[in-house]
Amino acid sequence: MSQRIAVYPGSFDPLTLGHVDIVTRAAKLFDRLVVAAIHNPDKTSLFTLEDRLAIMSETFAREPKVEVDTFSGLLVDYLKKKQSFILIRGLRAISDFEIELQMALMNRRLSPGTETLFLVPSVEYSFLSSSLIKQVYQSGGEAPTLVTPLVDRLLKEKYRQNEQ
Ligand code: PNS
Repeated sequence: MSQRIAVYPGSFDPLTLGHVDIVTRAAKLFDRLVVAAIHNPDKTSLFTLEDRLAIMSETFAREPKVEVDTFSGLLVDYLKKKQSFILIRGLRAISDFEIELQMALMNRRLSPGTETLFLVPSVEYSFLSSSLIKQVYQSGGEAPTLVTPLVDRLLKEKYRQNEQ
């Protein structure tokens, strides 16, 4: 029987517990879940692609259904490469909806048959975003209940480095 494979794409700069929550939920629904960080040379990210992949590998090492990877270019091309037609996206609030709807419809236009599945994170992460996390650590704060211990440490190191 063929495997049900879904792809969860994102910037993951850095991974938060909101992302982890979505991965846990999606992994229950599929035989395999590919968590794929985008390589976008036009967008400056705090963490390199290698760092983001390493964080994801560490975090999901004990999740047998989860594979971590990177991609560049069109998402629908990557989806085909992974022999999947299902995209997972997290939906936190109404404010996410407009852009997510645009992306879902564009992906379907580019590759008919593509389905985007929106999953809702636990309410405790419904306000959480990687940008907000970076802002907190950059301003000297910390949020250890919203990121993994590894991300907490790396963020502290990064912004401490920048201070020197
Ligand atoms: O975590 P993010 O930044 O919200 O993820 C956005 C992402 C990576 C899913 C989106 O930018 C993307 O799909 N980029 C690939 C380029 C692409 O396929 N664009 C056309 C469809 S919208």
